[in-house]
Amino acid sequence: MLTQAQNDRITRVAPGTPMGNLMRRYWHPVAASVEVNEENPTKEVRLLGEDLVLFRSTRGVVGLIEPSCPHRKANLSYGVPEPEGIRCAYHGWLFDETGACIDQPSEPAGSKFKDKVKLKAYKTEELGGLIFAYMGPEPAPLLPNWDILTWTNVTRTINAVDMPANWLQCMDNSLDPVHFQWLHRYWGGWNIARKLPAGEGQDFDRSTLSRGREHVKVGFDRFEYGIVKRRLLEGEAEEDQWWRIGHPILFPNILRVAQDHWHSFQYRIPIDDTHTKHMLYTVVVPEPGVMVAEQGFVPYVERELYDEKGRLNNTIVPAQDEAAWVMQGPITDRTTEHLGVTDVGIILFRKMINENLQIVEDGGEPINVHRDPAKNVAIPLATEHTYYPGDDFTGGQFADKPLLPPQVEASMQ
Ligand code: FES
Ligand SMILES: [Fe+2]
Repeated sequence: MLTQAQNDRITRVAPGTPMGNLMRRYWHPVAASVEVNEENPTKEVRLLGEDLVLFRSTRGVVGLIEPSCPHRKANLSYGVPEPEGIRCAYHGWLFDETGACIDQPSEPAGSKFKDKVKLKAYKTEELGGLIFAYMGPEPAPLLPNWDILTWTNVTRTINAVDMPANWLQCMDNSLDPVHFQWLHRYWGGWNIARKLPAGEGQDFDRSTLSRGREHVKVGFDRFEYGIVKRRLLEGEAEEDQWWRIGHPILFPNILRVAQDHWHSFQYRIPIDDTHTKHMLYTVVVPEPGVMVAEQGFVPYVERELYDEKGRLNNTIVPAQDEAAWVMQGPITDRTTEHLGVTDVGIILFRKMINENLQIVEDGGEPINVHRDPAKNVAIPLATEHTYYPGDDFTGGQFADKPLLPPQVEASMQ
């Protein structure tokens, strides 16, 4: 159990909070690239407790600015995109992506007034079909070029849903492998069997068969970008990649999951203290030697959180996770929780958050901030049982990786 103050410290992300300051040291996806285009050149967004306007100029440059025009406070999401930026709907002031006011058409010719006017603006970069934003102190770190964001000859898709749940309960879930048996197999199986027409669902009974295989043990290891999560299921040997390799949680808010030909990031992006955007970024790798069609753009779909009855969707695995996060309430009450032995990963993650909060408060740089361009090239992330471009076997370049030295390991027995 935590005190209320301890819970607030690791959950609240509003501007000026310790966790908000830590989160602002990282680049976050704020939208899919296709969300701002010629047809829809602006989008109102909320990130880390701040309302902002995302826009794309007619030259294709993306900007992320405060929403209110500094003249008479009209909302700039109604502005008109031009080659140099966005022109306010009300009296035509023009702003570029740095927030500079570059034209005030109704002021006298030669007026220097515009040089005194500046909008708050945050840096953005596009990579792999996503628009990333950096809202922290300068100098901005590099946008990490994780492997799957940079691969060519792959097929990408993006979907997302906004949820009334704090970011940390979403991430806690990734340090909790055992929920797979219960949330996904048992509860998910029960719901699928009830909801889908006969023949489309799956058989369900309350025996252990529907709960999936038991976890024999779970392991968590710190590494330079976060934590590697490993599991050993009943019937598997320690030589199995599930145990030897596992898959990573990138500090502070990204899960990498992968299987066979698909790799995925699950971004848990803090909208504010009580809302999180869950963005699923999926990359499918073809069989070795196969060329896939070039994608003109990466498609994006917004998913529904609730079904037609107003209840949380639960017939696909990510929706089951999202349902669990939302059913914990806007911010999980950690003052009355009871963590068991299988929650060791959650405890490790909270420890890592607290360490990095302290580092930032002491003026240092938290983990997983990238500043070396030489190292920022298709940063490889080990994931079990997957095809990796350039390799023709599952596990890719990591297939022979030895067991990581376990720093925290819990036996389920
Ligand atoms: S309110 Fe924006 S130009 Fe006047
Ligand atoms: Fe899950």
